[in-house]
Amino acid sequence: MSSAARAFEPSPNNLEAFWMPFTANRQFKGKPRLFVAAKDMHYTTIEGRQVLDATAGLWCVNAGHGRKKIVEAVQQQIAKLDYAPAFQMGHPLAFELASKIVQLLPGDFDHVFFTNSGSESVDTALKIAIAYHRSRGQGARQRLIGRERGYHGVGFGGISVGGIVSNRKFFGSMLSGVDHLPHTHILAKNAFTRGEPNHGAELADELERIVTLHDASTIAAVIVEPVAGSTGVLVPPKGYLKRLREICDKHGILLIFDEVITGFGRLGASFATEYFGVKPDMITCAKGLTNGSIPMGAVICRKGIYDAFMDAPDNTIELFHGYTYSGHPVASAAGIATLEIYKEEGLFERARDLSGYWQDAVHSLKGLPNVIDLRNLGLVGAIELEPRPGKPTARAFEAFLNCYEKGVLIRTTGDIIALSPPLIVEKGHIDQIFGTIAEVLKTLP
Ligand SMILES: Cc1ncc(COP(=O)(O)O)c(C=O)c1O
Repeated sequence: MSSAARAFEPSPNNLEAFWMPFTANRQFKGKPRLFVAAKDMHYTTIEGRQVLDATAGLWCVNAGHGRKKIVEAVQQQIAKLDYAPAFQMGHPLAFELASKIVQLLPGDFDHVFFTNSGSESVDTALKIAIAYHRSRGQGARQRLIGRERGYHGVGFGGISVGGIVSNRKFFGSMLSGVDHLPHTHILAKNAFTRGEPNHGAELADELERIVTLHDASTIAAVIVEPVAGSTGVLVPPKGYLKRLREICDKHGILLIFDEVITGFGRLGASFATEYFGVKPDMITCAKGLTNGSIPMGAVICRKGIYDAFMDAPDNTIELFHGYTYSGHPVASAAGIATLEIYKEEGLFERARDLSGYWQDAVHSLKGLPNVIDLRNLGLVGAIELEPRPGKPTARAFEAFLNCYEKGVLIRTTGDIIALSPPLIVEKGHIDQIFGTIAEVLKTLP
């Protein structure tokens, strides 16, 4: 340490050095909330309290915490092969995991490109889309279409096609050649709908307007979350995704589903593509791929996308893209163990079977103070609160703090409470989650 000015000792009790992501740092450091352990449905706080996890960490711990099979797979792999170069070299587990992933999906989703996060998956898919058209002699197709209120991570590609204002406004002009569809949140018509709302499929037709404006020959891809998560759970109107697919097909535009949240059983099916019966050209995923244990993401591509790159001479690199840790051995081991747990325990089916009970629990909050909408699909739920005049987000954040004090971890975005428990959740946990939220909402000013 070179100078006395270096004020901070490297101690776990010193919270200053870590600049926390998407966090009110000063609020947190004034009254920290620290987890030190987790098992199944519960976290243990540094004070030794148990907190029920109603958010699967950050939508990622789908099989619950501390799963022995994943722990052992990671321990064994790191001892056996800690790292292998990802470029021009390989190791068996990445291939095995890719095969297991494609088996989860219907149809010709035959190829997997590994990344380390959802944000990298999004940027990878956008790059593949542009390069795909170029490889087919349509290099003018570079424009990317996202959607208002969309969340596609925090890379420059992701925030450019994303539509959450606070994630965009601080970061300059971002990618050029991007346009946005309107969001599908029509509170006036769809409030308190159970499952998919009835109104709003026609909002997909806005893509026709965008095509008329820019011409299809300039558009590479449309990217949407099938169910928008981070903006506060927006369930797509009935027929909306199908219509988007039809318009993309009509104009030769690729469709990307960002399934970072909806992948791996969240809706009670493998992926949203299976749930809705609509096939995109590429799927981005992360989070539940390794049960949140080791960072890993992936882009799953249909056969035609991959094949378009494979007609160059055999010894050329087909795609100049990749990460040092693409298909990392330890992450691959975690991924394989995770997918085995999902299968052995039938967790996707479990989520489907519980979704009716979950739906009733979500909608049991109707009529509580300040609740202006309730939404649900699979094991996802949202409670939209009326913002306090002049103090947006304050009411929901207070609900979050109060629930935490009462032993339930919820998540808030704006004035919306978003819920996504591990798929091993039991009815008793669901009762506790909604009982606690109801108690808090009744007393919240
Ligand atoms: C739909 C979607 N895409 C991308 C991301 C970004 O993932 P990551 O935080 O792993 O970069 C998220 C994260 O919540 C997400 O919900």
